Amino acid sequence: MQDWTFHGFASAFDSHVREQLPWYELASAAMGLIARQYIPKGGKVYDLGASTGNVGRALAPVLEARAATLTALDECPDMIAAYAAPGRAVVADMTRFAYKPFDVAVAFLAFMFLAVPARRKLLQRLRQQLRPGGAIIVFDKLVPPGGYPATVLARLTWASKLAQGAEEAAIVRKELALSGIQRPLYPGELGEDAVEVFRFGDFVGWIIEG
Ligand SMILES: C[S@@+](CC[C@H](N)C(=O)[O-])C[C@H]1O[C@@H](n2cnc3c(N)ncnc32)[C@H](O)[C@@H]1O
Repeated sequence: MQDWTFHGFASAFDSHVREQLPWYELASAAMGLIARQYIPKGGKVYDLGASTGNVGRALAPVLEARAATLTALDECPDMIAAYAAPGRAVVADMTRFAYKPFDVAVAFLAFMFLAVPARRKLLQRLRQQLRPGGAIIVFDKLVPPGGYPATVLARLTWASKLAQGAEEAAIVRKELALSGIQRPLYPGELGEDAVEVFRFGDFVGWIIEG
């Protein structure tokens, strides 16, 4: 069983997320509306784990209207080569990047692909660079609840993927390939001040204010 990787995946990425995550457009639009509340004129924005630029495209009108700058980070060179959105796209490991003070950082479906200690350190470093009035916006998978509701949630997720046209064997293969690679966030991991603003099943959006 091979581990899941985003390397060599850029051309398939946009259709894949829409097949796997039926709420992807809705959540992206919500993220854009939320980020808009925190981006000042001349503001600085980071997109962590940018892939092909979904976050940058959602933020394009507000970035332009407020002359704000966006730096998009992804560790996969082919994702950055395929990046099609405003801002500066950089091949970089988000856990090692030298962040400057910023107004908004968006981690949209990205933290779950970091090792648990690395993402906790990253969050501390991001909090230090977050300007007053700004926000860190995280959309990610959350460790499911225990007991029968966990089974209910898993079935909801699989049914959604099937309804979007994913093939049964591919769903199982991906799930197993994600073992140890995709580590959902733990409840409370983002800190007590993280406010939940979006949820579909075990995918959740939070705001952490500066
Ligand atoms: C599920 S995708 C993110 C989706 C994207 N934000 C969107 O809005 O569609 C996760 C991305 O995070 C990137 N990634 C994973 N670990 C990373 C790291 N340590 N530093 C930078 N990018 C990373 C992967 O290459 C991949 O493109």
